[in-house]
Amino acid sequence: MTRAISAPRGVPDYPPPRSRDFLFVRDALAQPATRAGYEYIELPVFESTELFIRGVGESTDVVSKEMYTFTDRGDRSITLRPEGTAGVIRAIIENRLDKGPLPVKLWYAGPFFRAERPQQGRYRQLQQVGVEVVGSDDPAIDAEVISLAYHGFTSLGLRNFYLNLTSLGCSICRPPYRKTLQEFLGSCDLDQETRERALINPLRVLDDKREIVQEQLTDAPLMIDYLCPACESHFTSVRSYLSASGVQWRENPRLVRGLDYYTRTTFEFVHPDLGAQSGIGGGGRYDGLMAELGGESLSGIGFGLGTDRTLLACEAEGLTPFVRRLIDIYFIAMGDEARLRTVTLMQALRAHGISCDMAFDSHSLKSAMKNADRVAAPFVAIVGEDEMHSNSVQVKNMTTGEQESLPSTAQALIGHLISPDRKA
Ligand code: HAM
Repeated sequence: MTRAISAPRGVPDYPPPRSRDFLFVRDALAQPATRAGYEYIELPVFESTELFIRGVGESTDVVSKEMYTFTDRGDRSITLRPEGTAGVIRAIIENRLDKGPLPVKLWYAGPFFRAERPQQGRYRQLQQVGVEVVGSDDPAIDAEVISLAYHGFTSLGLRNFYLNLTSLGCSICRPPYRKTLQEFLGSCDLDQETRERALINPLRVLDDKREIVQEQLTDAPLMIDYLCPACESHFTSVRSYLSASGVQWRENPRLVRGLDYYTRTTFEFVHPDLGAQSGIGGGGRYDGLMAELGGESLSGIGFGLGTDRTLLACEAEGLTPFVRRLIDIYFIAMGDEARLRTVTLMQALRAHGISCDMAFDSHSLKSAMKNADRVAAPFVAIVGEDEMHSNSVQVKNMTTGEQESLPSTAQALIGHLISPDRKA
């Protein structure tokens, strides 16, 4: 036999039945955005490498170590998108959405690619649902964005997660803070690599997981204590709007994100049951990104929620399976005439929004019933010789076991399926 081929390392499949829950989670995470007037944007999965270097930041792990970059046939450097924000901003500028009414509110979903070391919950092809808002400084939009994510998680029934929140300041108050932090780090006993990181991106040092580093950072200066009055008042308003939106959060002034574009409001959702890969979503403001990518100087805010990790979190909390029923009614037809009639009947039912399937390949009744079970059909319709003579179908309610003979018409079946005393 020829050797079978496996998927590349770190790339998950979602075969059924788990794929049902994957779609359910993805749609649940997107739904709050669609209910809040966000429009869908479909984006390419590869872009010019320069977009991510300029947009995400050359010194980030994502850009310096994790990108899938290759040269295409036209000798251009191309990168599989490691995240969505830079691409959305590029598309807003290129399609001149920023010239229309503001703010521009968009959502997206799909795969992203990072060459990370694979482990449980950390994949090389990861899935996100994201939103981006461009052209508003209103703190109410910060709270809206955060609440979309928060309520996406709670709508799935998730309870054991929390929201970390902080402000990273702006182009006025961050540079002096950065300098103060660098001075502080200069007085610590750090290895060469960490010293170099302190020079390029001192905030990342705060995120160093090693105890030997952390114990020296107890008294490190924190951005939250260095906010300018405008950032301070913005952050205060964001918190008021969050309370008004029914969102609970923890202030975490040591929150550090892995991407360079963040300013002011910054947040991360954590689900501790997931172990090392506990970040189920994150985002924040990026008030300099539009200008950095050659657009107008408009501010922005957004999030990316990890669909894979959210599904893992739902599984960890015992919330799955979300979807049991795939099909409303499953047909088993015996004989060619019965199969022809069933095909016609199914077309009419599907046109009315009733999902149905039938047993193909004339297997035994037993194996047909097994299939009905796999799709968790609440009703099974049997069309045999007797039914053909009497123009009827036998419909079995799989929950109660009751069986009833109905006229072989779409109307009769629909009436039966949606009748108020239906028990399945
Ligand atoms: P991020 O924090 O890099 O942000 O990714 C967002 C979420 O994607 C993470 O919280 C995590 O759930 C999931 N994720 C990231 N990497 C992996 C991985 N290797 N395997 C599985 N899941 C992963 C961004 O990407 C920003 N673009 C979010 C944003 C939008 N900020 C503003 N707007």
